[in-house]
Amino acid sequence: MKGVILAGGKGTRLYPLTRVINKHLLPVGQLPMIMHGINKLKEAGITSICIVTGKGSAGQFAELLGSGSEWGVALHYCIQDDAGGIAQALGLVESFVRPGESFVVILGDNLFEASLSPFIRAFRGKSGQAAVLLKEVEDPRRYGVPHLTNGRISRIEEKPEHPPSQYSVTGIYFYDDAVFEIIRSIHPSKRGELEITDVNNVYAARGTLSHHILEGWWMDAGTFESLAAVNGLVTSTGGAGK
Ligand code: G1P
Repeated sequence: MKGVILAGGKGTRLYPLTRVINKHLLPVGQLPMIMHGINKLKEAGITSICIVTGKGSAGQFAELLGSGSEWGVALHYCIQDDAGGIAQALGLVESFVRPGESFVVILGDNLFEASLSPFIRAFRGKSGQAAVLLKEVEDPRRYGVPHLTNGRISRIEEKPEHPPSQYSVTGIYFYDDAVFEIIRSIHPSKRGELEITDVNNVYAARGTLSHHILEGWWMDAGTFESLAAVNGLVTSTGGAGK
């Protein structure tokens, strides 16, 4: 299984911190944010990793991480010319994934405590399927929120005003190469982006989307509050990479 870390976007909610520096290079504990995702993948045995980022910051990622050999992983880089959404960024890794191969995707600003190993074991060999990890949150309106029907996700709503459950769909996803055909079939949302939620909803409609609950702490470090909170969590629990 391979790994993909999506590390693009403008990070506007963190301006002016992210005017010059890509969000995923900001410090979290003792490491740049991106390295927590790399450590999580490595800890789960995934060492072939593609980082997708914008052309303006790709050089800085390469300068920081190089080939990955210093960190015990093999890194590949993929450039997203324009910020066209999470699903558009994911579509760019098609040539990194071999036919029939499955892979795990982490949004680089998602930091979490639990190991990915059990989810990777559960997903291996499931062709044509996808899996997401859910976390119970206080305010689901900031996230993709699942409708749970008889223990299955029947649909996901992106940032709903009236959340259908107390869960957030975290930015940790499992796919195989069938996802690229689905990405080609979806259309930009109202905000002009290809949404990962629309991709996952194709699986949900086909009855091929499974889910697990993520234990331990989880945070999307896209705002000042969550970035500060995650720094506290990483410092007090010894790091998201553990
Ligand atoms: C994205 C996804 C959303 C998910 C969230 C998790 O939102 O669109 O479904 O719940 O990541 O971090 P964003 O943070 O890009 O607005």
